Amino acid sequence: MKEYRIITIPGDGIGPELMESTIAVLEAVQEMNGALKLNLEEHEAGAGRYARYGKRISDETLQACHEADGILKAPVGNPAVRTPEGTEAGLLGGVLRTGLDLFANMRPVKLYPGIRSPLAGYEPGGIDYVVIRENTEGLYASRDKGVGGPEAVADTLIITRKGTERVVRFAFELSRKRNGAPEDGVRRVTCVDKSNVLRSMALFREVFFEVAADYPDIEAEAVYSDACANHLVIRPAHYDVLVMENMLGDLLSDLGGATAGGLGMCPSGNIGEKFAFFEAVHGSAPDIAGQGIANPLSLILSAALMLAHIGESEAANQIETSVWGALEAGEIRLDNKGRAVDGSQAITEAVCARVRGEI
Ligand code: IPM
Ligand code: MN
Repeated sequence: MKEYRIITIPGDGIGPELMESTIAVLEAVQEMNGALKLNLEEHEAGAGRYARYGKRISDETLQACHEADGILKAPVGNPAVRTPEGTEAGLLGGVLRTGLDLFANMRPVKLYPGIRSPLAGYEPGGIDYVVIRENTEGLYASRDKGVGGPEAVADTLIITRKGTERVVRFAFELSRKRNGAPEDGVRRVTCVDKSNVLRSMALFREVFFEVAADYPDIEAEAVYSDACANHLVIRPAHYDVLVMENMLGDLLSDLGGATAGGLGMCPSGNIGEKFAFFEAVHGSAPDIAGQGIANPLSLILSAALMLAHIGESEAANQIETSVWGALEAGEIRLDNKGRAVDGSQAITEAVCARVRGEI
């Protein structure tokens, strides 16, 4: 029996609904894998907690995150809950990503069956790449730290050799485990930067090619970020793994998500040497909270990434293939806004039924 301690953060808005669905799927997975035991431990964090206690996350939760085997986080935040400085009070990205030194933000973009892409002519799996967003430095190293004002403010973009080297290495290691780009089956890592303009980005590219020399089996290429935005629309099948600075990854992963049915289909992992947490890429959508129409797949697929990360790849595959199968068979239907046509519950049940082998 393998036991894992997993911290769950249900978060705000649609977060608790997504977490409930995901926990149901994890329970089905455990029923089918007698040797797997996930001890889930729920922790309150985010905007709701800030509104109640004046702090978005407790020291006990942070401590638990340091000790756990995995962390699963539903969307947090509520635009109505603000800090005295006017920024959103419930967000946890800064405190968890930098606090736990989770340098690689892994954001798969994959076109599932039954999902209509705004791009014409792509089969399921015809778009299948991973954006690796550097998660601890870049422009967001200045998160909440800009200097100046009221007429001018500067935010500094920081690229370090060490920070770049570790995230680039992560990207190459990931490509080794994948099957290459849909277009040609070539394992390929693409460096995305703006090195024609910024010195910081020139360093990023320089380090990228230094690390690439250690991976002769993987194709290495570089593209400017503006051209990359264009390519992700006109030739997404060319890409396998892309690695880039923090804000570029924030932007281009959203663009990629749009081509694969929206952020409701996008899981993610924030991964470091010692810790990792897994979360849906999208926000907490307070406007549709409590209506039972949110699509829980982003968090369900994030749970699959978490299982793969802790070494339970069979369980991870079970979730992934169940989601794929249920979408392919039309058991899961999403409208053109990415919402659950038959309700969140129906999606949960469809995935659970397949995990249990009932279909
Ligand atoms: C993301 C989000 C966050 C970020 C926001 C909510 C702070 O956009 O995870 O992509 O900027 O990283
Ligand atoms: Mn974002």
